[in-house]
Amino acid sequence: TSLDAFVAGLPKAELHLHIEGSLEPELMFDLAQRNNIALPYNNVEALRAAYDFSNLQDFLDIYYQGADVLLTEADFYDLAMAYFRRAAADNVRHAEIFFDPQTHTDRGIPYNYVIEGLSRAAKDAEALGLSVSLIHSFLRHLSEEAAFESLAMAVPYLDRIIGVGLDSSEVGHPPSKFANVFAKAKALGLKLCAHAGEEGPPAYVYEALDVLHIDRIDHGNRSLEDPVLVAHIVREGLTLTVCPLSNHKLCVVSDLNAHPIPDMLKKGLRATINSDDPAYFGGYVNDNFLSLTRLGLIDRDACLTLARNSITGAFLDDARKAVLL
Ligand code: ADE
Ligand code: ZN
Repeated sequence: TSLDAFVAGLPKAELHLHIEGSLEPELMFDLAQRNNIALPYNNVEALRAAYDFSNLQDFLDIYYQGADVLLTEADFYDLAMAYFRRAAADNVRHAEIFFDPQTHTDRGIPYNYVIEGLSRAAKDAEALGLSVSLIHSFLRHLSEEAAFESLAMAVPYLDRIIGVGLDSSEVGHPPSKFANVFAKAKALGLKLCAHAGEEGPPAYVYEALDVLHIDRIDHGNRSLEDPVLVAHIVREGLTLTVCPLSNHKLCVVSDLNAHPIPDMLKKGLRATINSDDPAYFGGYVNDNFLSLTRLGLIDRDACLTLARNSITGAFLDDARKAVLL
């Protein structure tokens, strides 16, 4: 339809993408073969059939297992280049991508393989008209001490990363658990993001704002349960990186028809549309827009607002934003 074409043509930034979650089954099998790793699935179809999740933890178990095929600098480069090509095809012009270093360093993969592979791909993405920044994410099911150790590995590479994030199992691991390591990251000049209010309660979003002092909220869906919190986020002008297909696959929403994006926009929240883990949730950025346009939840104007929010919410200087807006 003409709305599909309009969405496809919009210049967009993707602000919530886990690079390990862009590992398509075909590439997973290729890397397994290249690295002599046996996968517990016979073929791509059997693997895809396992992508049936009831909640975040169901997904995380499979997602961390999938990352086991990533061993070398070239593996990380190939993973990232595949995503950059796919994103560029959706007219994504800027991407701020999370990576989960602890998932790799805890398996004995050197941090430098991860950062070198991803940053070499980020450089090569420029030829696709795509600018890229990397966000070093901490796994919140692990300790704050482990997050400090991970941050220390990033210190020689501070020029390669724009910020830090907080992801993995949310409930039981509130943002305040990471107060000290986020303060350290801020002192190092890094931007701060945290997943909050995906499965966790509004209190976790408050903590992300008031204890971690984050610059951007990842997901934030459950903020809507608290009008005072919503007013606070609106007043602060914080961007929310929302992920419709992810929310549906992880049962954060029972039905896409009940997706909160329209309500967020109505309340003046700076929502954006992102793909989170596209290889696992069945769609890249444009698919995420279309999942809502097809249901009549967002119109052309809303799509334009959402795309513009993604540019204004990016960690970019005003000159680059002006080019993309
Ligand atoms: N890691 C990858 N995707 C995630 C998500 N949606 N929530 C928490 N951690 C994640
Ligand atoms: Zn995420």
